[in-house]
Amino acid sequence: MLPPEFRPAHIHEQRFAVSYDYPVVFCRDALAPADPTLAWAISRQEPARRHPVYAVADSGVAAARPELAERLAAYMRPETGLDLVAPLHVIPGGEASKNDPALIGDLQRRFAEARLDRHAVVLAIGGGAVLDAVGYAASTTHRGLRVVRMPTTVLAQNDAGVGVKTGVNAFGAKNFLGTFAPPYAVVNDCDLLSTLPLRDARAGMAEAVKVALIRDASFFDWIEANAAGLSQAEPGLLHTLIRRCAELHLHHIATAGDPFESGSARPLDYGHWSAHRLEILSRHALRHGEAVAIGMALDACYAWRRDLLDDVALARICALLETLGLPTFHPALEAPANGVLAVLTGLRDFREHLGGSLAITLLTGVGRTVEVSEMDEAEIVHAIRWLASRNKGCYSLS
Ligand SMILES: NC(=O)c1ccc[n+]([C@@H]2O[C@H](COP(=O)([O-])OP(=O)(O)OC[C@H]3O[C@@H](n4cnc5c(N)ncnc54)[C@H](O)[C@@H]3O)[C@@H](O)[C@H]2O)c1
Ligand SMILES: [Zn+2]
Repeated sequence: MLPPEFRPAHIHEQRFAVSYDYPVVFCRDALAPADPTLAWAISRQEPARRHPVYAVADSGVAAARPELAERLAAYMRPETGLDLVAPLHVIPGGEASKNDPALIGDLQRRFAEARLDRHAVVLAIGGGAVLDAVGYAASTTHRGLRVVRMPTTVLAQNDAGVGVKTGVNAFGAKNFLGTFAPPYAVVNDCDLLSTLPLRDARAGMAEAVKVALIRDASFFDWIEANAAGLSQAEPGLLHTLIRRCAELHLHHIATAGDPFESGSARPLDYGHWSAHRLEILSRHALRHGEAVAIGMALDACYAWRRDLLDDVALARICALLETLGLPTFHPALEAPANGVLAVLTGLRDFREHLGGSLAITLLTGVGRTVEVSEMDEAEIVHAIRWLASRNKGCYSLS
């Protein structure tokens, strides 16, 4: 170890700050020909020049909206200042887009063939997985193309699509490759959610429960009071939930002092250490949001066992997740690996991801947290057993 007072004799201290700003617009039917929202989001900094746009869409959205390519082409008529430089490119929706390294290379080749420069726009339309994959490909092309996101899932509109991260899965780990790359703009068009399967809508609500649990007890109360309607994805309730959740995420990124996560505190990753592992252990049978719901239930039960959280709070959390139609258990929690539970490797991965020292956010109440630097594996196993017995024979994800 070097003595703490050591300093090399000749140092030039290089320091500068880069500030970012991007609009997150909440709107409906953004591709209506007369609606200027999307054109503004793309051209707002240089309204006088033309803007090449390369559009990529999620296959789930493209299948649900066969008219999408035509509407996009019709929207980008000459007077908008936007030039669609290639027909809409469709890539597989869901985790498939993050699991295939060839897909990233293919996107980058297409960006090169379309001769996109650093001021060109990649318009990414899709769920969180497609936004992550397209964002990664774009952020590593010319060291960063402009990306305008049109998120099409609840989770993408309230979390993945409004933040500053991109990523793909590699070497058996979620988001092992990725970049911090704030978008150029985000257009949250609530009409895009109308084709989303109920299961995916519910999965996205898990991130709202998460941010309410760690940041905003009154938002938790609101979700609880409206859980029955939310579980059926009633549009008015859904849009309120998305907007509040997105605002809480955006506020955290802007004000918590570590937007690019160089420290180890990661409150927005509440429930995620096990969730990321569960996604992989279930071979992505679990959606990200579903895995987060299980991860939150597990960490709530663990906190209760450690006398951090009381019985009432634990019961409220589990009941809310279940009323929303989210799982609080999956058999992957009990999958063994080398004589221990495989999910425990999630703690090791999380530690590595944070840079060697563990910082796990646990709840001390609804809207109240504490950070711990270790978790007792035997207690985690007990918490898993408790969730298993609570859910005996009654988990179903269809
Ligand atoms: N970058 C971040 O900050 C961040 C944050 C949270 C989650 N994520 C990532 O987001 C991903 C999960 O995203 P998700 O929950 O949006 O799901 P998803 O992207 O996996 O999509 C789920 C399914 O819905 C389909 N789909 C999407 N929009 C649709 C629509 N409007 N109509 C019909 N089908 C539609 C997709 O094709 C897919 O089959 C995970 O990979 C997760 O790691 C990233
Ligand atoms: Zn998440």
